[in-house]
Amino acid sequence: MRPANISRVANIEDLRQIARRRVPKIFFDYVDGGSYSEATMRANVDDFDKWGFAPRFLVDVSKRTLDTTILGQKSALPIMIAPNGLTGMLWPKGEAVAARAAHAAGIPLTLSTVSICTMEEVAAEAKSGFHFQLYLPKDKGLAKSFLDRAKACGAGAIHFTVDANLPALREKDLYNGLRFAGTPALRTMLDILAHPQWALAHVPTGRMPRFGNLPPETGRDLLEQTANMGNINELVITWDHLRWIRQNWDGKLVFKGAMTVEDARQAVDEGCDAVVVTNHGGRQMDGILSSVAVLPRIAAAVGGRTEIILDSGIRRGTQIAKALALGADSVMIGRAYLYGLAAAGEAGVALAIRLLADELSITLGSLGLNSIAELRAKGPGIIERI
Ligand SMILES: Cc1cc2nc3c(=O)[nH]c(=O)nc-3n(C[C@H](O)[C@H](O)[C@H](O)COP(=O)(O)O)c2cc1C
Repeated sequence: MRPANISRVANIEDLRQIARRRVPKIFFDYVDGGSYSEATMRANVDDFDKWGFAPRFLVDVSKRTLDTTILGQKSALPIMIAPNGLTGMLWPKGEAVAARAAHAAGIPLTLSTVSICTMEEVAAEAKSGFHFQLYLPKDKGLAKSFLDRAKACGAGAIHFTVDANLPALREKDLYNGLRFAGTPALRTMLDILAHPQWALAHVPTGRMPRFGNLPPETGRDLLEQTANMGNINELVITWDHLRWIRQNWDGKLVFKGAMTVEDARQAVDEGCDAVVVTNHGGRQMDGILSSVAVLPRIAAAVGGRTEIILDSGIRRGTQIAKALALGADSVMIGRAYLYGLAAAGEAGVALAIRLLADELSITLGSLGLNSIAELRAKGPGIIERI
């Protein structure tokens, strides 16, 4: 596919607007939407505005840096790429393309179980850090094979997603026909035909691609596989499942979905190496608090005992600075890079990361700080609830 012209893009919202034009609605809505009323999805972004900075000027910040470590590995930025299903439907080989951009930026990437590319394809590109996100299959042989493959790929961590076993409804996905096996809604087919460049690149045979990591018996294409998810994955997950993973994975384990102090504490007690404070980008439970709203109390409870990754709602470098000041060690970005990928492939992801990094760097300097470590150490002293 030809990348869109992104020379005048100033922010993530600009990339979003280009993405909206480039990708058929069924896949743009899948990325852009949240569950039910989408109230939590909006709050994830808006709640950052409830915090404001208290800067110190007249400090020499000419040598400031943004590098840090994430789960024990060096990262050029306190940012990692979140696991996102179906990324390969936004750009051909989308997950591998995003991994190349992440590597060029010097940051790690977490790959979703439900990617189009296989984990082997993506790990080969994610040379600045590759993690694998696990949706736990019912078949423990299959689950174990994911862990074994992740190990063989050199995965720095497994992220166990705990908030998605009950499939919340994203209403636009229902209208577009993304939730059913067989052919999508007629208006979706017409919309795909109205994007010939995309269609030739993604569905040249007329059949949708498959989720690359899942075995053939799970379905012939992603529509069949999506409809079949209830048979593939555990619908009920408990701490016993986390223990099973802990016993079968000797590398770093990340608890993705800590929204209460209690869950964060137990995750640490059960041997997790990091918690992701996230509500799945407002795509699962609606009406749940925003991630940034619960971050300070989770940081107060388990910060220092574990690594804290803030996820959901990041669209600005200032928001990253706020998250770090409120106790996160790093952040994950989802839609922010997906819009870039849909707009312009690798260059779009690179731009999304650069826009966030540049804004973070200016914010850090304006706070009179020279490093991420300093920002983390000053913490609440440089940010106030409005
Ligand atoms: C299109 C899309 C697909 C997602 N797929 C997954 C997934 O397969 N596994 C997972 O753990 N989280 C998934 N998530 C959640 C992301 O990992 C992350 O929590 C979310 O994107 C953060 O919110 P943000 O998009 O506002 O940054 C998905 C999110 C989006 C937007």
